[in-house]
Amino acid sequence: MVSALVRTILVTGGAGYIGSHTVLQLLQQGFRVVVIDNLDNASQVALIRVAELAGHNGANLVFHKVDLRDRHALEDIFSSHRFEAVIHFAGLKAVGESVQKPLLYYDNNLIGTITLLEVMAAHRCKKLVFSSSATVYGWPKEVPCTEEFPLCATNPYGRTKLVIEDICRDVHRSDPEWKIILLRYFNPVGAHPSGYIGEDPCGIPNNLMPYVQQVAVGRRPHLTVYGTDYNTKDGTGVRDYIHVVDLADGHIAALRKLYEDSDKIGCEVYNLGTGKGTSVLEMVAAFEKASGKKIPLVFAGRRPGDAEIVYAATAKAEKELKWKAKYGVEEMCRDLWNWASKNPYGYAGSPEDGSN
Ligand code: NAD
Ligand code: UFG
Repeated sequence: MVSALVRTILVTGGAGYIGSHTVLQLLQQGFRVVVIDNLDNASQVALIRVAELAGHNGANLVFHKVDLRDRHALEDIFSSHRFEAVIHFAGLKAVGESVQKPLLYYDNNLIGTITLLEVMAAHRCKKLVFSSSATVYGWPKEVPCTEEFPLCATNPYGRTKLVIEDICRDVHRSDPEWKIILLRYFNPVGAHPSGYIGEDPCGIPNNLMPYVQQVAVGRRPHLTVYGTDYNTKDGTGVRDYIHVVDLADGHIAALRKLYEDSDKIGCEVYNLGTGKGTSVLEMVAAFEKASGKKIPLVFAGRRPGDAEIVYAATAKAEKELKWKAKYGVEEMCRDLWNWASKNPYGYAGSPEDGSN
């Protein structure tokens, strides 16, 4: 069992959606947490709320507004704390934007990660959990996707994930002291059951459920359903939606693995998904039921680059991380609505403050 008492974990991108939920779980389990985030796609209010939710453990949270590419700032932080491990969420993640601005994505995601790995090595901190993505499976030939499937990238964002996975494998090969877990997330949805923290995307949401949530609170008139002619039960795309709290738990399981099975771990990859596929229309129906809100739909053609059906093989994570998702789409939609109805404009509080 991890003794959390003396462990300090660095969380990059910890003010973001998945990061904030994971930081809360870490604090609740007694870890000390240092977050660095440049707040490009996050609000510091998220961390204030995380600290409140964590009660007296909230005092174990330290925040630095720092860009990962700022080597001097990173060096200073590593000089003033002894980190047992790093959970690395920080990165840009909008697929469409990555097609428009590939250099921004390569610069932010790749240079940020390389700088982090170099500073970690210099400070002899060689345990890492990295946020990869199911995007590396592209349009899979079959489902469920196992970790051994061939990998590909269909856009610059996905390519940064593939390259970082390869960098991690190379780094471990060059120095086996590195212990690295690559987590391939499927589709995170929902919010902490308190409704106090959740997803608050800047600008027009790219992803399905943040968009649905904004329709439900009246910020958008309708949801556009991209593609009705897929070879699926109702013609719409199928994905593996996973509750963000389950996803956060997966990170604690990965950390535990890094400590308990340190001698067995090199650079290992795990899917974090539920193993269940849900269509766009099924997700909308589940949300309507949870919220009591009607979501007006406009049907459109397929979105370029979208796969038909993607869901996870979960056996490896279940066996080796002893982790399994607990929640289904009902709980995801319930908690998403709880967050959205209490915070219709996210952390900003009002339309004037928000990025809308
Ligand atoms: P998010 O945008 O909410 O969080 C990322 C955080 O990183 C933000 O708070 C942002 O301000 C910060 N950041 C970005 N670049 C930075 C930099 N150079 N220096 C410091 N901070 C920086 O995104 P999220 O949904 O929480 O995703 C977290 C990670 O998981 C990302 O790496 C993302 O690619 C990956 N991921 C997300 C999904 C998803 O659907 N949400 C799916 C698969 C993988
Ligand atoms: N969809 C719509 N309308 C929308 C948004 C999405 O119909 O407004 C559909 C999509 O066509 C797809 C499904 O809803 O069939 C899910 O789309 P998302 O954009 O929510 O999720 P994706 O699976 O396309 O991609 C997301 C992230 C990727 C990440 C991947 C992990 O955007 O970065 O999940 O599996 F890699």
